[in-house]
Amino acid sequence: METSAPIIVVGGGIAGLVTALAAAPAPVLLLTRSPGSNGAASTLAQGGIAAAIAPGDSTAAHAHDTCVAGSHHNDGAMVELLTSGAVQALEWLQQRGVVFDRDNSGALLLGREGGHDRPRIVHAGGDATGARVMAALVAAARTAPHIERQAGVDVDGLMLRNGHVCGVCVTRADGSQSAVEGRAVVLATGGVGGLFAHTSNPADADGSGLALALAAGAATRDLEFVQFHPTALAMPGVHSLPLVTEALRGAGARLLDMHGQPLMAGVHPLGDLAPRDVVARQVWSACEAGGAWLDARHVGDDFESAFPTVLAACLAHGIDPRLQPIPVTPAAHFHMGGIATDADGRTSLPGLYAVGEVACNGVHGANRLASNSLLEGVVFGQRLAQALRDADSAPSGGRSFKFLHRGPSLDVGPLNRLRGLMTQAMGPLRTGALLQVALRDCDALAHVGWQGALARSVVGAALRRQRSLGAHFRDDGPTAGHATKDAWRAA
Ligand code: SIN
Repeated sequence: METSAPIIVVGGGIAGLVTALAAAPAPVLLLTRSPGSNGAASTLAQGGIAAAIAPGDSTAAHAHDTCVAGSHHNDGAMVELLTSGAVQALEWLQQRGVVFDRDNSGALLLGREGGHDRPRIVHAGGDATGARVMAALVAAARTAPHIERQAGVDVDGLMLRNGHVCGVCVTRADGSQSAVEGRAVVLATGGVGGLFAHTSNPADADGSGLALALAAGAATRDLEFVQFHPTALAMPGVHSLPLVTEALRGAGARLLDMHGQPLMAGVHPLGDLAPRDVVARQVWSACEAGGAWLDARHVGDDFESAFPTVLAACLAHGIDPRLQPIPVTPAAHFHMGGIATDADGRTSLPGLYAVGEVACNGVHGANRLASNSLLEGVVFGQRLAQALRDADSAPSGGRSFKFLHRGPSLDVGPLNRLRGLMTQAMGPLRTGALLQVALRDCDALAHVGWQGALARSVVGAALRRQRSLGAHFRDDGPTAGHATKDAWRAA
Protein backbone atom coordinates (compact mmCIF):
# COMPACT_ATOMS: atom_id res chain seq x y z
CA MET A 1 0.00 0.00 0.00
CA GLU A 2 1.39 3.37 -0.98
CA THR A 3 1.75 5.58 2.11
CA SER A 4 0.07 8.39 0.14
CA ALA A 5 -3.23 6.48 0.14
CA PRO A 6 -5.73 8.53 2.14
CA ILE A 7 -7.59 7.70 5.29
CA ILE A 8 -11.15 7.21 4.05
CA VAL A 9 -13.77 8.71 6.37
CA VAL A 10 -17.35 7.71 5.55
CA GLY A 11 -19.90 10.16 6.96
CA GLY A 12 -19.89 13.89 7.54
CA GLY A 13 -21.45 14.30 10.99
CA ILE A 14 -19.54 15.60 13.96
CA ALA A 15 -17.58 12.38 14.56
CA GLY A 16 -16.49 12.09 10.93
CA LEU A 17 -15.56 15.76 10.62
CA VAL A 18 -13.60 15.84 13.86
CA THR A 19 -11.71 12.70 12.84
CA ALA A 20 -10.96 14.16 9.41
CA LEU A 21 -9.85 17.54 10.77
CA ALA A 22 -7.77 16.14 13.61
CA ALA A 23 -6.01 13.62 11.37
CA ALA A 24 -4.00 16.46 9.76
CA PRO A 25 -1.54 16.37 8.09
CA ALA A 26 -2.44 12.83 6.99
CA PRO A 27 -4.45 12.97 3.75
CA VAL A 28 -8.16 12.27 4.24
CA LEU A 29 -10.85 11.44 1.70
CA LEU A 30 -14.22 12.37 3.24
CA LEU A 31 -17.16 10.62 1.58
CA THR A 32 -20.74 11.73 2.28
CA ARG A 33 -24.10 11.04 0.73
CA SER A 34 -25.48 14.56 1.14
CA PRO A 35 -23.68 17.86 0.54
CA GLY A 36 -22.49 20.08 3.38
CA SER A 37 -23.91 19.10 6.75
CA ASN A 38 -27.35 18.24 5.36
CA GLY A 39 -27.41 14.50 5.99
CA ALA A 40 -26.00 14.54 9.50
CA ALA A 41 -28.06 14.06 12.65
CA SER A 42 -25.45 16.26 14.37
CA THR A 43 -26.85 19.24 12.45
CA LEU A 44 -30.27 18.67 13.99
CA ALA A 45 -28.94 18.36 17.54
CA GLN A 46 -30.84 20.80 19.72
CA GLY A 47 -29.21 19.74 22.94
CA GLY A 48 -25.73 21.05 23.53
CA ILE A 49 -22.52 19.71 24.94
CA ALA A 50 -22.35 18.50 28.52
CA ALA A 51 -19.29 19.70 30.44
CA ALA A 52 -18.66 19.90 34.18
CA ILE A 53 -17.65 23.55 34.34
CA ALA A 54 -20.13 25.05 36.84
CA PRO A 55 -18.79 25.90 40.30
CA GLY A 56 -19.22 22.78 42.43
CA ASP A 57 -19.60 20.47 39.44
CA SER A 58 -17.05 17.78 38.67
CA THR A 59 -16.24 15.25 35.99
CA ALA A 60 -17.06 12.60 38.61
CA ALA A 61 -20.59 14.02 38.94
CA HIS A 62 -20.97 14.10 35.15
CA ALA A 63 -19.69 10.52 34.98
CA HIS A 64 -22.12 9.49 37.73
CA ASP A 65 -25.10 10.94 35.85
CA THR A 66 -23.86 9.29 32.62
CA CYS A 67 -23.80 5.89 34.33
CA VAL A 68 -27.13 6.31 36.13
CA ALA A 69 -28.77 7.20 32.79
CA GLY A 70 -26.97 4.24 31.19
CA SER A 71 -28.30 1.87 33.89
CA HIS A 72 -24.67 1.23 34.91
CA HIS A 73 -24.15 -0.80 31.76
CA ASN A 74 -21.50 1.77 30.74
CA ASP A 75 -17.80 1.06 30.31
CA GLY A 76 -16.32 3.11 33.16
CA ALA A 77 -13.02 3.80 31.40
CA MET A 78 -14.84 5.24 28.37
CA VAL A 79 -17.05 7.37 30.61
CA GLU A 80 -13.94 8.72 32.31
CA LEU A 81 -12.40 9.59 28.91
CA LEU A 82 -15.62 11.29 27.80
CA THR A 83 -16.31 13.38 30.86
CA SER A 84 -12.70 14.35 31.52
CA GLY A 85 -12.34 15.34 27.86
CA ALA A 86 -15.24 17.79 27.84
CA VAL A 87 -13.38 21.02 28.63
CA GLN A 88 -10.72 20.31 26.01
CA ALA A 89 -13.49 19.42 23.53
CA LEU A 90 -15.11 22.84 24.06
CA GLU A 91 -11.76 24.56 23.56
CA TRP A 92 -11.07 22.56 20.39
CA LEU A 93 -14.44 23.58 18.95
CA GLN A 94 -13.95 27.24 19.88
CA GLN A 95 -10.57 27.19 18.14
CA ARG A 96 -12.46 26.12 15.01
CA GLY A 97 -14.89 28.99 15.22
CA VAL A 98 -17.77 27.72 17.34
CA VAL A 99 -19.20 30.52 19.49
CA PHE A 100 -20.97 29.27 22.59
CA ASP A 101 -23.72 31.19 24.37
CA ARG A 102 -22.54 33.38 27.26
CA ASP A 103 -24.19 35.61 29.85
CA ASN A 104 -23.57 39.34 30.22
CA SER A 105 -20.46 38.72 32.32
CA GLY A 106 -18.96 36.54 29.58
CA ALA A 107 -19.44 33.25 31.44
CA LEU A 108 -20.75 30.26 29.48
CA LEU A 109 -24.50 29.84 29.93
CA LEU A 110 -25.39 26.42 31.28
CA GLY A 111 -28.71 24.69 30.66
CA ARG A 112 -30.17 21.59 32.22
CA GLU A 113 -31.49 18.46 30.51
CA GLY A 114 -32.86 15.07 31.52
CA GLY A 115 -30.71 12.90 33.76
CA HIS A 116 -28.34 15.73 34.79
CA ASP A 117 -28.44 16.64 38.45
CA ARG A 118 -27.60 20.28 37.73
CA PRO A 119 -27.21 22.77 34.84
CA ARG A 120 -24.29 21.47 32.77
CA ILE A 121 -25.13 21.96 29.10
CA VAL A 122 -23.33 24.46 26.87
CA HIS A 123 -25.27 25.70 23.82
CA ALA A 124 -24.52 27.70 20.68
CA GLY A 125 -27.43 29.76 19.37
CA GLY A 126 -29.75 28.18 21.94
CA ASP A 127 -31.33 25.05 20.51
CA ALA A 128 -29.43 25.53 17.22
CA THR A 129 -26.25 24.09 18.75
CA GLY A 130 -25.82 21.23 16.30
CA ALA A 131 -26.33 23.50 13.30
CA ARG A 132 -23.82 26.07 14.61
CA VAL A 133 -21.18 23.48 15.47
CA MET A 134 -21.58 21.73 12.14
CA ALA A 135 -21.42 24.98 10.17
CA ALA A 136 -18.07 25.76 11.79
CA LEU A 137 -16.67 22.27 11.21
CA VAL A 138 -17.85 22.08 7.60
CA ALA A 139 -16.21 25.45 6.93
CA ALA A 140 -12.99 24.25 8.57
CA ALA A 141 -13.03 21.04 6.51
CA ARG A 142 -13.58 23.02 3.27
CA THR A 143 -10.38 24.98 3.80
CA ALA A 144 -8.29 22.16 5.27
CA PRO A 145 -5.66 21.27 2.67
CA HIS A 146 -5.37 17.64 3.81
CA ILE A 147 -9.10 16.90 3.27
CA GLU A 148 -10.66 16.03 -0.05
CA ARG A 149 -14.44 15.94 0.22
CA GLN A 150 -16.74 14.07 -2.16
CA ALA A 151 -20.53 14.26 -1.72
CA GLY A 152 -23.27 12.25 -3.42
CA VAL A 153 -21.37 9.05 -2.66
CA ASP A 154 -22.90 5.90 -1.16
CA VAL A 155 -20.32 3.52 0.29
CA ASP A 156 -21.85 0.10 -0.25
CA GLY A 157 -18.91 -2.27 0.08
CA LEU A 158 -15.54 -2.80 1.73
CA MET A 159 -12.33 -3.92 0.04
CA LEU A 160 -10.10 -6.35 1.88
CA ARG A 161 -6.63 -7.64 1.15
CA ASN A 162 -5.31 -10.50 3.28
CA GLY A 163 -8.09 -9.86 5.81
CA HIS A 164 -7.16 -6.19 6.11
CA VAL A 165 -9.72 -3.51 5.14
CA CYS A 166 -7.97 -1.43 2.50
CA GLY A 167 -10.70 0.55 0.76
CA VAL A 168 -14.35 0.97 -0.13
CA CYS A 169 -16.74 0.31 -2.99
CA VAL A 170 -18.81 3.35 -3.91
CA THR A 171 -21.86 4.18 -5.97
CA ARG A 172 -22.01 7.83 -7.05
CA ALA A 173 -25.08 9.96 -7.64
CA ASP A 174 -24.79 9.35 -11.42
CA GLY A 175 -24.97 5.57 -10.82
CA SER A 176 -21.30 4.93 -11.57
CA GLN A 177 -19.50 2.43 -9.36
CA SER A 178 -15.85 2.16 -8.43
CA ALA A 179 -13.42 1.02 -5.77
CA VAL A 180 -11.27 3.46 -3.80
CA GLU A 181 -8.16 2.40 -1.90
CA GLY A 182 -7.26 3.85 1.47
CA ARG A 183 -4.75 3.16 4.22
CA ALA A 184 -7.66 2.90 6.69
CA VAL A 185 -11.45 3.12 6.52
CA VAL A 186 -13.41 4.99 9.20
CA LEU A 187 -17.17 4.46 9.44
CA ALA A 188 -18.86 7.51 10.94
CA THR A 189 -22.27 6.94 9.42
CA GLY A 190 -24.54 7.66 12.39
CA GLY A 191 -27.51 5.74 13.73
CA VAL A 192 -30.43 3.58 12.69
CA GLY A 193 -33.44 5.93 12.93
CA GLY A 194 -34.34 5.05 9.34
CA LEU A 195 -35.38 1.57 10.49
CA PHE A 196 -38.29 3.02 12.49
CA ALA A 197 -41.63 4.59 11.57
CA HIS A 198 -40.82 7.83 13.40
CA THR A 199 -37.36 9.23 13.99
CA SER A 200 -35.67 12.47 14.92
CA ASN A 201 -32.84 11.51 12.53
CA PRO A 202 -32.40 12.72 8.94
CA ALA A 203 -32.80 10.32 6.02
CA ASP A 204 -29.09 9.46 5.78
CA ALA A 205 -29.16 7.88 9.26
CA ASP A 206 -30.48 4.58 7.98
CA GLY A 207 -27.93 2.19 9.48
CA SER A 208 -26.03 1.71 6.22
CA GLY A 209 -22.57 1.77 7.84
CA LEU A 210 -23.56 -0.68 10.53
CA ALA A 211 -25.06 -2.95 7.86
CA LEU A 212 -21.78 -2.78 5.95
CA ALA A 213 -19.76 -3.73 9.02
CA LEU A 214 -22.14 -6.62 9.74
CA ALA A 215 -21.85 -7.85 6.16
CA ALA A 216 -18.06 -7.80 6.51
CA GLY A 217 -18.18 -9.78 9.77
CA ALA A 218 -17.10 -7.01 12.17
CA ALA A 219 -18.05 -7.57 15.82
CA THR A 220 -20.99 -5.56 17.14
CA ARG A 221 -22.11 -4.73 20.64
CA ASP A 222 -25.31 -3.81 22.52
CA LEU A 223 -27.43 -3.60 19.35
CA GLU A 224 -30.64 -3.89 21.36
CA PHE A 225 -30.24 -0.48 22.99
CA VAL A 226 -32.13 2.03 20.83
CA GLN A 227 -33.04 5.30 22.51
CA PHE A 228 -36.40 6.91 21.82
CA HIS A 229 -36.53 10.65 22.40
CA PRO A 230 -39.71 11.32 24.40
CA THR A 231 -40.66 14.55 22.68
CA ALA A 232 -40.66 14.74 18.91
CA LEU A 233 -43.35 16.95 17.40
CA ALA A 234 -46.33 14.64 16.83
CA MET A 235 -47.16 14.60 13.11
CA PRO A 236 -49.02 11.42 12.16
CA GLY A 237 -47.71 9.74 9.02
CA VAL A 238 -44.45 11.70 8.91
CA HIS A 239 -41.20 9.71 9.12
CA SER A 240 -38.58 12.32 10.14
CA LEU A 241 -40.05 14.40 12.96
CA PRO A 242 -38.73 17.70 14.33
CA LEU A 243 -37.33 17.39 17.83
CA VAL A 244 -38.76 19.33 20.77
CA THR A 245 -35.64 19.65 22.87
CA GLU A 246 -35.36 18.36 26.41
CA ALA A 247 -33.83 21.71 27.32
CA LEU A 248 -37.40 23.07 27.28
CA ARG A 249 -38.16 20.83 30.23
CA GLY A 250 -34.92 22.07 31.79
CA ALA A 251 -36.38 25.57 31.42
CA GLY A 252 -39.65 24.60 33.12
CA ALA A 253 -41.88 23.00 30.46
CA ARG A 254 -44.04 20.12 31.73
CA LEU A 255 -45.42 16.98 30.12
CA LEU A 256 -49.18 16.52 30.29
CA ASP A 257 -51.52 13.64 29.52
CA MET A 258 -54.77 13.86 27.57
CA HIS A 259 -56.56 15.11 30.69
CA GLY A 260 -54.04 17.90 31.19
CA GLN A 261 -52.54 16.10 34.20
CA PRO A 262 -48.74 16.08 34.84
CA LEU A 263 -47.38 12.97 33.14
CA MET A 264 -44.22 12.49 35.19
CA ALA A 265 -45.66 13.15 38.66
CA GLY A 266 -44.63 10.33 41.01
CA VAL A 267 -42.83 8.37 38.30
CA HIS A 268 -39.22 9.32 39.06
CA PRO A 269 -37.46 11.60 41.56
CA LEU A 270 -36.28 13.85 38.70
CA GLY A 271 -39.84 14.24 37.38
CA ASP A 272 -39.90 15.68 33.86
CA LEU A 273 -36.10 15.59 33.84
CA ALA A 274 -35.85 11.85 34.50
CA PRO A 275 -33.51 9.88 32.21
CA ARG A 276 -34.78 9.68 28.69
CA ASP A 277 -35.81 6.02 28.69
CA VAL A 278 -38.06 6.58 31.70
CA VAL A 279 -39.76 9.62 30.16
CA ALA A 280 -40.09 7.94 26.75
CA ARG A 281 -42.01 5.04 28.26
CA GLN A 282 -44.46 7.39 29.98
CA VAL A 283 -45.00 9.41 26.82
CA TRP A 284 -45.37 6.23 24.75
CA SER A 285 -48.08 4.91 27.08
CA ALA A 286 -49.82 8.29 27.16
CA CYS A 287 -49.83 8.42 23.35
CA GLU A 288 -51.39 4.94 23.22
CA ALA A 289 -54.05 6.21 25.66
CA GLY A 290 -54.88 9.35 23.65
CA GLY A 291 -51.92 11.70 23.45
CA ALA A 292 -49.17 13.59 25.24
CA TRP A 293 -48.36 17.31 25.25
CA LEU A 294 -45.49 19.47 26.37
CA ASP A 295 -46.69 22.63 28.05
CA ALA A 296 -43.97 25.23 27.44
CA ARG A 297 -46.19 28.29 27.84
CA HIS A 298 -44.41 29.35 31.02
CA VAL A 299 -40.88 29.19 29.61
CA GLY A 300 -41.08 32.94 29.21
CA ASP A 301 -39.50 35.70 27.21
CA ASP A 302 -36.47 33.63 26.33
CA PHE A 303 -38.40 31.39 23.95
CA GLU A 304 -37.33 33.08 20.75
CA SER A 305 -33.65 33.41 21.66
CA ALA A 306 -33.21 30.09 23.48
CA PHE A 307 -35.46 27.86 21.35
CA PRO A 308 -35.55 29.32 17.83
CA THR A 309 -35.49 25.87 16.19
CA VAL A 310 -38.43 24.48 18.19
CA LEU A 311 -40.38 27.71 17.71
CA ALA A 312 -39.88 27.66 13.94
CA ALA A 313 -40.80 23.96 13.64
CA CYS A 314 -43.95 24.40 15.72
CA LEU A 315 -45.06 27.55 13.90
CA ALA A 316 -44.50 25.80 10.57
CA HIS A 317 -47.05 23.22 11.69
CA GLY A 318 -49.60 25.70 13.02
CA ILE A 319 -48.71 25.44 16.70
CA ASP A 320 -47.59 28.43 18.75
CA PRO A 321 -45.80 26.89 21.75
CA ARG A 322 -45.96 30.22 23.60
CA LEU A 323 -49.75 29.99 23.59
CA GLN A 324 -50.64 26.29 23.48
CA PRO A 325 -49.19 22.92 24.58
CA ILE A 326 -47.15 21.09 21.94
CA PRO A 327 -48.37 17.62 20.87
CA VAL A 328 -45.44 15.22 21.28
CA THR A 329 -44.60 11.60 20.55
CA PRO A 330 -41.54 9.40 21.13
CA ALA A 331 -39.29 8.93 18.10
CA ALA A 332 -36.22 6.75 17.49
CA HIS A 333 -33.34 9.05 18.35
CA PHE A 334 -30.02 7.39 19.15
CA HIS A 335 -28.41 3.96 18.92
CA MET A 336 -26.29 3.17 21.96
CA GLY A 337 -25.16 -0.09 20.34
CA GLY A 338 -23.15 -0.43 17.17
CA ILE A 339 -19.84 -1.64 15.78
CA ALA A 340 -17.72 -2.77 18.72
CA THR A 341 -14.64 -0.58 19.12
CA ASP A 342 -11.91 0.15 21.62
CA ALA A 343 -11.23 3.64 22.96
CA ASP A 344 -9.45 4.57 19.72
CA GLY A 345 -12.13 3.40 17.30
CA ARG A 346 -10.47 0.10 16.31
CA THR A 347 -12.97 -2.57 15.25
CA SER A 348 -12.42 -6.33 15.14
CA LEU A 349 -11.37 -6.01 11.47
CA PRO A 350 -7.84 -4.69 10.88
CA GLY A 351 -7.95 -1.46 8.92
CA LEU A 352 -11.60 -0.74 9.79
CA TYR A 353 -12.43 1.91 12.39
CA ALA A 354 -15.72 3.33 13.65
CA VAL A 355 -16.59 6.46 15.60
CA GLY A 356 -19.67 8.32 16.82
CA GLU A 357 -23.14 6.84 16.87
CA VAL A 358 -22.36 3.92 14.54
CA ALA A 359 -19.69 2.76 16.99
CA CYS A 360 -20.09 1.25 20.42
CA ASN A 361 -17.26 1.47 22.92
CA GLY A 362 -19.69 1.18 25.82
CA VAL A 363 -19.62 4.83 26.86
CA HIS A 364 -23.41 5.29 26.85
CA GLY A 365 -24.36 2.02 28.50
CA ALA A 366 -28.00 1.08 28.01
CA ASN A 367 -29.27 4.64 27.54
CA ARG A 368 -27.35 7.77 26.55
CA LEU A 369 -27.37 10.79 28.83
CA ALA A 370 -28.61 13.99 27.17
CA SER A 371 -25.96 16.11 25.43
CA ASN A 372 -23.27 13.44 25.56
CA SER A 373 -23.42 12.64 21.84
CA LEU A 374 -21.81 15.73 20.28
CA LEU A 375 -19.26 15.42 23.06
CA GLU A 376 -18.64 11.79 22.13
CA GLY A 377 -17.96 12.80 18.53
CA VAL A 378 -15.34 15.37 19.54
CA VAL A 379 -13.58 13.34 22.25
CA PHE A 380 -13.45 10.01 20.44
CA GLY A 381 -12.98 11.55 16.99
CA GLN A 382 -9.79 13.20 18.22
CA ARG A 383 -8.60 9.97 19.84
CA LEU A 384 -9.21 8.04 16.62
CA ALA A 385 -7.38 10.67 14.56
CA GLN A 386 -4.37 10.37 16.87
CA ALA A 387 -4.43 6.57 16.54
CA LEU A 388 -4.59 6.86 12.75
CA ARG A 389 -1.68 9.28 12.67
CA ASP A 390 0.33 6.86 14.78
CA ALA A 391 -0.72 3.71 12.90
CA ASP A 392 1.54 1.91 10.49
CA SER A 393 0.44 1.79 6.88
CA ALA A 394 -1.62 -1.18 5.82
CA PRO A 395 0.53 -4.14 4.79
CA SER A 396 0.94 -4.32 1.04
CA GLY A 397 0.21 -7.66 -0.58
CA GLY A 398 -0.39 -7.35 -4.27
CA ARG A 399 -3.60 -6.54 -6.08
CA SER A 400 -5.67 -9.49 -4.92
CA PHE A 401 -8.75 -7.97 -3.29
CA LYS A 402 -11.88 -9.37 -1.74
CA PHE A 403 -15.04 -7.24 -1.97
CA LEU A 404 -17.77 -7.47 0.65
CA HIS A 405 -21.02 -5.74 -0.29
CA ARG A 406 -23.90 -4.56 1.86
CA GLY A 407 -26.43 -5.87 -0.67
CA PRO A 408 -29.48 -4.34 -2.34
CA SER A 409 -31.76 -1.86 -0.59
CA LEU A 410 -35.41 -2.62 0.25
CA ASP A 411 -38.04 -1.00 -1.94
CA VAL A 412 -40.27 1.57 -0.28
CA GLY A 413 -43.18 -0.82 0.42
CA PRO A 414 -41.17 -3.48 2.29
CA LEU A 415 -39.13 -0.73 3.98
CA ASN A 416 -42.27 0.87 5.38
CA ARG A 417 -43.47 -2.53 6.57
CA LEU A 418 -40.11 -3.07 8.29
CA ARG A 419 -40.34 0.35 9.95
CA GLY A 420 -43.79 -0.45 11.29
CA LEU A 421 -42.80 -3.75 12.79
CA MET A 422 -39.55 -2.34 14.24
CA THR A 423 -41.51 0.43 15.94
CA GLN A 424 -43.95 -2.02 17.46
CA ALA A 425 -41.37 -4.57 18.54
CA MET A 426 -38.29 -2.44 19.29
CA GLY A 427 -39.97 0.67 20.73
CA PRO A 428 -39.86 1.90 24.35
CA LEU A 429 -42.02 -1.07 25.53
CA ARG A 430 -41.06 -4.52 24.24
CA THR A 431 -42.45 -8.03 24.62
CA GLY A 432 -40.96 -11.38 23.73
CA ALA A 433 -43.98 -12.22 21.59
CA LEU A 434 -43.68 -9.08 19.44
CA LEU A 435 -39.93 -9.53 19.15
CA GLN A 436 -40.43 -13.12 17.95
CA VAL A 437 -42.86 -11.96 15.27
CA ALA A 438 -40.47 -9.18 14.23
CA LEU A 439 -37.55 -11.62 14.01
CA ARG A 440 -39.50 -13.89 11.70
CA ASP A 441 -40.53 -11.00 9.45
CA CYS A 442 -37.03 -9.49 9.44
CA ASP A 443 -35.63 -12.87 8.51
CA ALA A 444 -37.84 -12.91 5.43
CA LEU A 445 -36.94 -9.31 4.55
CA ALA A 446 -33.22 -10.04 5.05
CA HIS A 447 -33.30 -12.04 1.82
CA VAL A 448 -34.64 -9.00 -0.04
CA GLY A 449 -32.64 -6.06 1.29
CA TRP A 450 -29.87 -5.06 3.69
CA GLN A 451 -32.24 -3.19 6.02
CA GLY A 452 -33.93 -6.52 6.76
CA ALA A 453 -30.61 -8.15 7.64
CA LEU A 454 -29.65 -5.22 9.87
CA ALA A 455 -33.03 -5.22 11.63
CA ARG A 456 -32.74 -8.98 12.17
CA SER A 457 -29.46 -8.46 14.05
CA VAL A 458 -30.97 -5.70 16.18
CA VAL A 459 -34.10 -7.71 17.02
CA GLY A 460 -32.03 -10.83 17.67
CA ALA A 461 -29.96 -8.92 20.23
CA ALA A 462 -33.15 -7.71 21.93
CA LEU A 463 -34.51 -11.25 22.13
CA ARG A 464 -31.32 -12.50 23.72
CA ARG A 465 -31.57 -9.93 26.53
CA GLN A 466 -34.52 -11.12 28.56
CA ARG A 467 -34.28 -8.71 31.48
CA SER A 468 -35.06 -5.04 31.17
CA LEU A 469 -32.13 -2.68 31.15
CA GLY A 470 -32.16 1.02 30.23
CA ALA A 471 -33.74 1.62 26.84
CA HIS A 472 -34.39 -2.13 26.51
CA PHE A 473 -37.59 -2.48 28.52
CA ARG A 474 -39.31 -5.84 28.51
CA ASP A 475 -42.96 -5.24 29.28
CA ASP A 476 -43.62 -8.94 29.82
CA GLY A 477 -42.54 -11.72 32.13
CA PRO A 478 -41.65 -11.76 35.82
CA THR A 479 -38.71 -9.35 35.50
CA ALA A 480 -40.54 -6.67 33.50
CA GLY A 481 -38.88 -3.32 34.11
CA HIS A 482 -37.03 -4.63 37.16
CA ALA A 483 -33.47 -3.55 36.38
CA THR A 484 -34.46 -0.13 35.06
CA LYS A 485 -36.49 0.73 38.12
CA ASP A 486 -33.72 -0.45 40.43
CA ALA A 487 -31.09 1.60 38.62
CA TRP A 488 -32.27 4.98 39.81
CA ARG A 489 -33.13 3.73 43.29
CA ALA A 490 -29.55 2.57 43.69
CA ALA A 491 -28.15 5.81 42.31
C1 SIN B 1 -32.52 17.25 23.05
O1 SIN B 1 -32.21 18.40 22.78
O2 SIN B 1 -33.50 16.99 23.71
C2 SIN B 1 -31.65 16.14 22.55
C3 SIN B 1 -30.33 16.19 23.16
C4 SIN B 1 -29.58 14.90 23.00
O3 SIN B 1 -29.97 14.05 22.21
O4 SIN B 1 -28.60 14.74 23.71
